[in-house]
Amino acid sequence: MSSFFVTGTDTNVGKTVATRAIMQALQALDIDVVGYKPIACTQDDEISVGDCVGSKSDYGTEDNADVLTLMHTTKQDVTYQDINSYTFSHTMPLFTDQGEQIQIDKINQDLAHLNRKYQTVVVEGCFGWLSPINKHFSFADWVVKHQMPVVLVVGIKEGCINHTLLTVQSILNLGAPLIGWIANRINPCLGHYAEMIDTLRNKIDAPLLGEIPYIYKPETQDVGKYMTNIERLTYLKTVLVK
Ligand SMILES: Nc1ncnc2c1ncn2[C@@H]1O[C@H](COP(=O)(O)OP(=O)(O)OP(=O)(O)O)[C@@H](O)[C@H]1O
Ligand SMILES: [Mg+2]
Repeated sequence: MSSFFVTGTDTNVGKTVATRAIMQALQALDIDVVGYKPIACTQDDEISVGDCVGSKSDYGTEDNADVLTLMHTTKQDVTYQDINSYTFSHTMPLFTDQGEQIQIDKINQDLAHLNRKYQTVVVEGCFGWLSPINKHFSFADWVVKHQMPVVLVVGIKEGCINHTLLTVQSILNLGAPLIGWIANRINPCLGHYAEMIDTLRNKIDAPLLGEIPYIYKPETQDVGKYMTNIERLTYLKTVLVK
């Protein structure tokens, strides 16, 4: 097993920031690691991005911020299209004709290509755990099929305990291995932070891998140092590295 999947309690909870943190922490252990964002949906409704079926030559713009963050985080020499299978110019390709373009086979092939080349691949999903990839498959279905270990990113905000517990329940019910969770402090003004973390720690049947504080432009910072559960990362190293 050489890849694992980063999901979150919602969109905008810090999956990309946490993916960067995991990658930096693994790189500090001398593991060669790349990020992979199979489907990227850019929040920009005026430009249109090319059709991405089959050929890799008909991409439109290669400007999705998540893909670029993953590209800048790895120390490996990868292109945009190495670490992304589909980029769309809006957030809801599923509900347009573009949704039909998304082929699981292409995503599988692109992941397999990265797995062959690198020791570890950290895969970032879209939105949350049960979000659809296309009309037939959800991210959860795909991850379970691959038996990819899962890391859950919890954006600490009102309602996150509910979203976290529902997500954990679904991950475990579907039989995916939950490696651990990451607390990401996306709202610095939220009170009772420590109590929320304690509650989540007690209720999640998987270890806390680290807590990312509220910081300025985290996608440009060294966030690997916040992955404090070194034992678990070492476990990742032995289990996930070829
Ligand atoms: N710890 C943090 N401190 C400050 N800002 C943060 C932190 N984590 C995330 N952010 C900001 O919150 C926004 C969402 O973060 P991020 O893009 O990582 O979320 P995401 O879950 O990957 O979103 P998406 O569903 O679009 O992929 C970004 O603007 C990011 O800079
Ligand atoms: Mg993201």
